[in-house]
Amino acid sequence: MTNGLRRRRIISDTSAMLPENFQPDEYFPHIARLISAGVSSFAAADSADQLEAARIEFLGDKRGYLLEFQKALGKLPPEARREAGRAFNEAKTRLTSAFEERRDALAGSSRATGPKLDLTMPARERWRGGKHPVTLVIDEIVAIFRELGFTVALGPESESEWYNFGSLNFPADHPAMDLHDTFYLGEGALLRTHTSPVQVRTLQKYPPPIRILAPGTVFRRDPFDASHAPAFAQLEGLAIDEGISFVDLKATLTTFARRFFGSSTKTRFRPSYFPFTEPSAEMDVECRLCGGVGCSACKGTGWMEIMGSGMVHPSVLEAAGIDSERYTGWAFGMGPGRIAMLRYGLPDIRLLYDSDVRFLSQVAE
Ligand code: PHE
Repeated sequence: MTNGLRRRRIISDTSAMLPENFQPDEYFPHIARLISAGVSSFAAADSADQLEAARIEFLGDKRGYLLEFQKALGKLPPEARREAGRAFNEAKTRLTSAFEERRDALAGSSRATGPKLDLTMPARERWRGGKHPVTLVIDEIVAIFRELGFTVALGPESESEWYNFGSLNFPADHPAMDLHDTFYLGEGALLRTHTSPVQVRTLQKYPPPIRILAPGTVFRRDPFDASHAPAFAQLEGLAIDEGISFVDLKATLTTFARRFFGSSTKTRFRPSYFPFTEPSAEMDVECRLCGGVGCSACKGTGWMEIMGSGMVHPSVLEAAGIDSERYTGWAFGMGPGRIAMLRYGLPDIRLLYDSDVRFLSQVAE
């Protein structure tokens, strides 16, 4: 509608048109009027359609006004043509750039307001990765023991029966193996049930003194429930040297517990049994949640079991080719997943396996 009206007005604007029989000196005021009519016509166009209509009117190569001025050049006496030609070229440049300017402006504004780009849409949140709670616990334990002179050693998850059991003094068919039922891979290979085989592998490779930590995944034929998983993290510690006694074990592990859980943390050692340590002990720390009074997390005892430990059995040293008359040492094994549960107050171990970012992002650093 406006489009048609405006076009009619401009067409009726005969002042911009060149009269049939114009005088040579009329060329200049007419072409000046053409420029101002064209510039304002382009500027007034509100849409690409209106602008295109104005373009055809002024710059069209069939009937455009400018074309008339070009044809008129040939009717001018030769001495007037040069200057008129210059005026024509300038008119063409100014009209073209007025058209282009409006075209770009319309394209820009339709981009900003058009439906394709909604600038009010909130930006997508950035994802930040973080470490898993079990990894955080392992890193922290490794850092504490590193200051005490321990380095990290690793071993294979697919292990031989000999490294997993035989070298560790499990007599064949010993009932202790019931706790370590696992996945047998055939030909004497199995998924390791604990990180203790790394003790023997390390001792075979490096002579004492040895102080290592061996974190890794272990496997057991356990049901997946609130406190068990068939694959879980373990962290082994081993210290072998001349003259090492149970005092070193207690002092080192108590130092660790105080560094990890807090300087006033109480610990206790309870007699236990493992085929590869003698004597053996479980280390408990005072329950962090109730302060030792007794709560559901510590099953009312006031203590939480943290790890198994003991003096390395002489037959383990001998299996690794170490002189058990000369060297002694101690070892421990703990479950970083269980420690993560204590630390973060998790009621169910499966939270550590679900990969639910709503939980993980609360712990991740
Ligand atoms: N390997 C034992 C287990 O998995 C833990 C342990 C390691 C105990 C080292 C004593 C010494 O239960």
